[in-house]
Amino acid sequence: MSRLESAINRLTAQKALLEHVAGLIGEASGTVFELGLGNGRTFDHLRQIFPTREIFAFDRAIRAHAGCIPDAEHMIVGDMRDTLRLCHPRIPAPPVLVHVDMGAGDATADLATREWISPLVAGWTAVGGYVVTDRPLELPGYAEVARPAGVPASPHLIYRRG
Ligand SMILES: C[S@@+](CC[C@H](N)C(=O)[O-])C[C@H]1O[C@@H](n2cnc3c(N)ncnc32)[C@H](O)[C@@H]1O
Repeated sequence: MSRLESAINRLTAQKALLEHVAGLIGEASGTVFELGLGNGRTFDHLRQIFPTREIFAFDRAIRAHAGCIPDAEHMIVGDMRDTLRLCHPRIPAPPVLVHVDMGAGDATADLATREWISPLVAGWTAVGGYVVTDRPLELPGYAEVARPAGVPASPHLIYRRG
């Protein structure tokens, strides 16, 4: 498979899994966390599929497309090792979806990220809420959710907090 084909599969799967989880969440209450605003592509899609929810985006800097930057209340800038620990005062309700989009494409860097981000994600997600992630996480008490049929192969996983 060429790198182009693999990138197309990854993005197609990411979109399909986010939409699948939006359906599973239904009307359950909660916010949405976007961990890794980046270019703002998935943030833009999240606000399309969750039009009435508060979405909080995290990144160490704002480098998104000008039309895909959250307002100041919902953009949390800084190292997530700090911001995820300290943002409680501005979050009105735990996230019913945490979307983790931080894969570096380097196995060692991904393992290092997994080590510090897993307990933060585990602590934040609402009971019964979901995590969609581009890399495996260590989430005790969470169950992996099967991907829907027909979604192209990609590293993404879905977890649900029990
Ligand atoms: C793959 S990009 C996100 C892509 C984005 N979701 C999109 O669709 O355009 C990963 C982002 O995570 C951010 N990031 C990585 N480690 C971080 C950390 N420790 N704290 C804050 N942001 C971090 C990077 O700055 C980068 O913008």
